Amino acid sequence: MNKNTIRFIHISDTHIGESINFTLYGKNTFNCTRKLLELISAFNSPFDFVVHTGDIVNNPQNNTVSLARKLFRTVNYPVYFITGNHDNSDVIKEIQTDTSHCSQSSDLLYSFSVNQYQFLFLNLKGAGDGDNHGIFSKEDGDILCNHILDKANFEFIVFLHFPPLQLDCPWVDNEMTLLNNKRFLEIIHCSPAKIRAVFYGHIHNQTCINHNGVIYSSAPSPFCQFRIFASDNEVRFNPDIPVSFNYITVTESDIIVKTVSETDICIRQK
Ligand SMILES: [Fe+2]
Repeated sequence: MNKNTIRFIHISDTHIGESINFTLYGKNTFNCTRKLLELISAFNSPFDFVVHTGDIVNNPQNNTVSLARKLFRTVNYPVYFITGNHDNSDVIKEIQTDTSHCSQSSDLLYSFSVNQYQFLFLNLKGAGDGDNHGIFSKEDGDILCNHILDKANFEFIVFLHFPPLQLDCPWVDNEMTLLNNKRFLEIIHCSPAKIRAVFYGHIHNQTCINHNGVIYSSAPSPFCQFRIFASDNEVRFNPDIPVSFNYITVTESDIIVKTVSETDICIRQK
């Protein structure tokens, strides 16, 4: 791998609650997130940064945000966050560490560049009121389009919370995807800018899709995975999963996605 290789870790959907005892789908989300961060600390392969694609907290109230801050501010690697439908922009402001190297032109979007790659983070809104779709407004499209057209020399890696593609799973395709995804996909696939990959969360499970030459990949939740098969007409979840994350390698020719779980990393117990 040459100097143009970048490696990062993709995590998502930690849903930290208002106390360290908070449970969701039968699992303690604080403990699972703490274990996830310990696994990443113990992971002995190189990486440049970690990205969290949203639903950092379950409800953006004061206690919850300070618990999230307590967890994420103790790690000794950079973590970049975007909002999920359970977060708001204040959550990010509270827990995000140094972003002095990032450029931010609007609440929607911030980015930073390494070599020829630009990492682009989208804070999209959820539809709200119990609707789990994401919204991609005309204004969001205009901002994204202007941003990437302005930087035609870069190769872009894009992060958002909501799946922008159908996933061959009825309940996900009906309830969880990005509304107005047509405009999003037009920008990703039809603009002159070179978009290499799109990473997302929200579905609590790992997926990888090659859509017309662009890789779309989601990371697992550390505490509970949803079932996302073609026979799943409604939400089913599996809390008996190992804590896991995705390990991404970006080279000049490839995007490599590996799922790493606690069974792959030996942690000495106290
Ligand atoms: Fe979500």
